[in-house]
Amino acid sequence: MNIDWKNLGFGITKTDYNVRCYYRDGKWGEIEVSSSEEITMHMGATCLHYGQESFEGLKAYRGTDNRIRLFRYDENAKRMARSAQGILLAEVPESLFQEAVEKVVHLNERFIPPHGTGASLYVRPLLIGTGPQVGVKPANEFLFIIFVMPVGPYFKAGFKPVDVMITRKHDRAAPLGTGHIKVGGNYAASLTSVAEAHQKGFATTLYLDAKEKKFIDECGPANFFGIKDNTYITPESHSILPSITNMSLMTLAEDMGMKVEKRPVPVEELEEFEEVGACGTAAVITPIAKIVDAEADKIHLFGDSNNAGPITTKLYERLIGIQYGDIEDKFGWVTVLD
Ligand code: PLP
Ligand code: COI
Repeated sequence: MNIDWKNLGFGITKTDYNVRCYYRDGKWGEIEVSSSEEITMHMGATCLHYGQESFEGLKAYRGTDNRIRLFRYDENAKRMARSAQGILLAEVPESLFQEAVEKVVHLNERFIPPHGTGASLYVRPLLIGTGPQVGVKPANEFLFIIFVMPVGPYFKAGFKPVDVMITRKHDRAAPLGTGHIKVGGNYAASLTSVAEAHQKGFATTLYLDAKEKKFIDECGPANFFGIKDNTYITPESHSILPSITNMSLMTLAEDMGMKVEKRPVPVEELEEFEEVGACGTAAVITPIAKIVDAEADKIHLFGDSNNAGPITTKLYERLIGIQYGDIEDKFGWVTVLD
């Protein structure tokens, strides 16, 4: 195997195995192991026509002790269950989700990047409606599959500030739509605006609330946070995906003696933040140096364009320190696999 662990990006790499479980006749079957990267289904499967699909993202980390660590994957199981309820997929029981994650990680152990490379094993659970329907109705058969791949940073620069652009031309999710759950349609809706951002040289898009365009929503495939007056502030809205990383950062910020506020964040408040960033499993913490709001003729700059601010850096070091097992896991977030 010839993987340049230190220079991995966020892309598909073939690994040895994936795990699959079928829901038929009203119940889940056994976990099956496959080495094929392909799946076969009826051409009328609801995931293909009506977007009846949900996915998750989590990571496995290798510690200095060489042991494998998983971060808060019970929360991914819970979120996938909420996504299933939201679009009428069969719910994957938490115990099945956890067993499948552990199994696929063990089976692909040789792809878990060595400690110190900054890389990790990305775990991608996927739940799809495979039963055919041509009317708009939920499937009666489902497939739960998990595949994995070693990854580096989602945003090319890693822990270096990026620039993002505000868009008012596209929305990711409707006010009472599916933004709060992790379903494919939200990502399909984001493709044009993210492509426009890339084409203009930005890392991603910062969405405003779909109804009034007054409040900050999400930042590409990540939540948004801002820091001012020793306070960690993150937007609250029905159309934001509740990020497990963000939830963890709120706890860490509080533990560092900061105040934490989760509330609607007006776009004008960007003027007041000392540091801002995006956070998520893939994005980890990505500091933001510049936010361009072309339609409002505004450019917001945050600190040094080459380096993250001091609080963002401290939060980042604490978070990855816990994930890789370098610092004490006093919140009980990490599961060390045997
Ligand atoms: N927001 C969106 C739209 C995402 O796709 C993700 C990634 O999962 C996140 C936020 C971050 O969530 P988490 O920290 O649970 O990975
Ligand atoms: C993750 O952070 O795990 C995500 O799911 C983001 C993804 C859309 C790349």
